Amino acid sequence: MRTILVLNSKGGSGKTTIATNLAGYYADRGSSVALADFDPQGSSIDWLAARGDDRPAIKSVEAFHSGARLPSGVDVTILDAPARTHGEDLGALVRRAQTVVIPVVPSPVDLRAAERFLDELFRVKAVEKGEVKVATIANRAREGSLAATELGEYLEGLKLPSGKKLPFLALIRASVNYLRAAERGLSIFEFAPMATALDREHWAPLTRWLNSPRSLPE
Ligand SMILES: Nc1ncnc2c1ncn2[C@@H]1O[C@H](COP(=O)(O)OP(=O)(O)OP(=O)(O)O)[C@@H](O)[C@H]1O
Ligand SMILES: [Mg+2]
Repeated sequence: MRTILVLNSKGGSGKTTIATNLAGYYADRGSSVALADFDPQGSSIDWLAARGDDRPAIKSVEAFHSGARLPSGVDVTILDAPARTHGEDLGALVRRAQTVVIPVVPSPVDLRAAERFLDELFRVKAVEKGEVKVATIANRAREGSLAATELGEYLEGLKLPSGKKLPFLALIRASVNYLRAAERGLSIFEFAPMATALDREHWAPLTRWLNSPRSLPE
């Protein structure tokens, strides 16, 4: 089973948006998918509740209850992390995943928070040892804006504890399509094909990486 965690300790960086869109992406491709919400706010659960019965089903997991188990027997489980995950909670959550995707929003405040968060994440043993694969994406970027360019340059320059490059995979634009799709429990892969064409293009390097062995621990 494939387990992909969307993680950033900073609130509002787009964890739920990326997690729900990944769940929709895999469901749309015919994979059996579970979406595990580790946030008691339950935003991923709400997204699933809005999803029509005519769509490929995604299993809803209220993972914020203590002792919650991830389902077995699905192809892909997407884990939506809560904000402010630190310390032991961070280690425990990261160990549940093969792959960690970190969305960062272009703003000076978010960039500094990402710096501190990555510092902590890189001290998690599983990450240090390369037992989970980590990558970043820029999210909610206004194309061509100075903030997006600066964030891209920062993420591009990051290194893993091993000294290898930390993959920076995608620059996902700010788009009302995410809100419109989410209202119906849909991902941009399942919604308004013409209007979302550019958004899907932005996602392509991320999904390509996730579908390649490069995103799996050796
Ligand atoms: N690429 C995007 N384009 C437009 N709006 C976006 C985008 N990504 C996220 N948003 C919006 O930004 C807000 C925060 O996003 P989201 O809830 O996904 O972040 P989060 O990291 O899960 O937040 P929290 O830390 O509270 O769980 C939401 O209103 C969401 O719809
Ligand atoms: Mg969230």
